[in-house]
Amino acid sequence: MSLDEWEELYRLALRIKKSPAEFRDVCRGRIMATLFYEPSTRTQMSFQAAMMRLGGKVIGFSDPNASSVSKGETLRDTVRIVTGYSDILVIRNPIEGAAYASALYSHVPVINAGDGGHLHPTQTLTDLMTIRELKGSCEGLTVGCCGDLFNGRTVHSLLRAMSRFSGNKFVLISTPELKLPSYVTDELKAAGCEFCEVQTLEECISELDILYMTRIQRERFKTLEDYNRQAGVYRLTADKMALAKPDMAVLHPLPKVDEISYDVDDDPRTQYFEQAENGMFIRMALISQLCGAERTGRPPVYGAPEAGYCKNPRCISNHEKYLPKRVKVVGGEERCQYCDSPIT
Ligand code: NCD
Repeated sequence: MSLDEWEELYRLALRIKKSPAEFRDVCRGRIMATLFYEPSTRTQMSFQAAMMRLGGKVIGFSDPNASSVSKGETLRDTVRIVTGYSDILVIRNPIEGAAYASALYSHVPVINAGDGGHLHPTQTLTDLMTIRELKGSCEGLTVGCCGDLFNGRTVHSLLRAMSRFSGNKFVLISTPELKLPSYVTDELKAAGCEFCEVQTLEECISELDILYMTRIQRERFKTLEDYNRQAGVYRLTADKMALAKPDMAVLHPLPKVDEISYDVDDDPRTQYFEQAENGMFIRMALISQLCGAERTGRPPVYGAPEAGYCKNPRCISNHEKYLPKRVKVVGGEERCQYCDSPIT
């Protein structure tokens, strides 16, 4: 998405937020399929509510065990079938690159609603809308991201997006074990962004314009012991909020677990409930734009498979073994197109 396209989407979302009734028939007669292979509250419901408020209908599953997936159906077969029934496909999957892989077999637009610990672009649209409303722009801000930066897909997408607006600085607050993956730090370097990595909130909170808190992603750890070593390390308390700027905004993609103490919810600087509501409006804007698109008629990609070229065990190319090899070059380095991992 270009910055101009973002601007257009943002303006449309604001118009929808102001007068939703004007948009209630925009997607009449259209069907959106939501394929959720992983639990979700906000993302799935906000997509569904968004489509319904635009006059469209929704099909799909939120428990793959209740679909043919439980019988061993491949992702590409499920996607081919469902794109025959729908006008837009929204997919969430625990494997990195699953949405990109799905798009190879779909002739309707595919929206990534979170692919493992990789990316979550529509959460970022939600975050950008909230930042833009609060700060008047997405430029010239000092943004702190705190928590599980290794597995936190919302952080990866947010940093990728915020690095494209000028003058932003990033403070990455995590333990050494939960540092950002190198492909994201490489992108920040390539964009010429100033950033630093620190281990405590206390040492940086007073400088921040935005504090983006995240939970430690228990389901993405190899063992419970590994998770327990990281759990509860970060906690935003009223004492720490007292050190922050009077207009610092606290965002969180939610769900939050124990990383924000209950008394901080009342602080007017916390904006995560407003942020979650914005998610529905920006998704309404996105769906209404995509519903106008024609079916591509593009044939599905049945190339020669080359499983094993990507060394990331969480990459879809190592799980759905029929997928063709996909490589892109970023800053002179070869990366897997599905999951962004360096492949050399
Ligand atoms: C996030 C997600 O699923 O990645 N939640 C969301 O979509 N709003 C964050 C999380 O699960 O921690």
